[in-house]
Amino acid sequence: MGEKHNGPVTRDGIRIHSEADFSGMRAAGRLAAEILDRIGEHVFVGQSTAEIDRIVEEMVNAAGATSATIGYKGYEHASCISINHVVCHGIPSDKKLKDGDILNIDVTVIVDGWFGDTSRMFVAGKLARKAERLIEVTHEALFRGIEAVKPGNTFGDIGFAIQSFVEAQRMSVVRDFCGHGLGAVFHAPPNVLHYGREGTGPVLEEGMFFTIEPMVNLGRPETKILADDWTAVTRDKSLSAQFEHSIGVTATGYEIFTLSPAGRFHPTYG
Ligand code: MF3
Ligand code: CO
Ligand code: CO
Repeated sequence: MGEKHNGPVTRDGIRIHSEADFSGMRAAGRLAAEILDRIGEHVFVGQSTAEIDRIVEEMVNAAGATSATIGYKGYEHASCISINHVVCHGIPSDKKLKDGDILNIDVTVIVDGWFGDTSRMFVAGKLARKAERLIEVTHEALFRGIEAVKPGNTFGDIGFAIQSFVEAQRMSVVRDFCGHGLGAVFHAPPNVLHYGREGTGPVLEEGMFFTIEPMVNLGRPETKILADDWTAVTRDKSLSAQFEHSIGVTATGYEIFTLSPAGRFHPTYG
């Protein structure tokens, strides 16, 4: 394990990884994405999020992997499940899904010491038009951010690509949570902001690993944390959506470690 931490670190404290490290991230990212591919059929009206989480945990264990979230800062579940106006870090519970609920399922696994972190949107029952538009804009925002990933660009370029697209759709980008470096650890420098100005922030270099995970609201961007100390919700109760990928910077651009092997990004769109 030790040698996985021994690569160089930039001035900004961002680790530069080797080709062997890319292989490790591919395996971890693939498992996390496969779990999301397979969880879709367990999302339906009347299902509880605790049951979805139980199935996620079972899939992680069956693969011989470890959940990164169980025991993380006292969190006790294999997934975060964030419904409707919940922005992120929703705690699985016995509450049952209702027709038209939209939910983000966020799974992080550890495979051979490497962390794969990804989330997608799902729907129970019939998807309402404005929720569908929010989900499409959020997914497109993630990919606009990913397209800005190449050596020489900056983290501000990623944030700018996301923010400028989202705000042109008259939706808002959450500022209170961000993406993060990862690799042989869950959360590492830098903070990957989903808003910003072109040319600002650390410069991207080949071998950096991080997540991009924009949260987009139909209303205002402000959030608050509920009394459980985890659940983040929109202050104005507006709907919120999120997608997350774990990414590596390559010589010419990027590699997405958590792309769906089945080619899915959420069940409705296949
Ligand atoms: N997977 C989340 C992220 O994208 C972190 C969840 S931490 C937990 O960074 F403890 F809430 F599970
Ligand atoms: Co993450
Ligand atoms: Co995540």
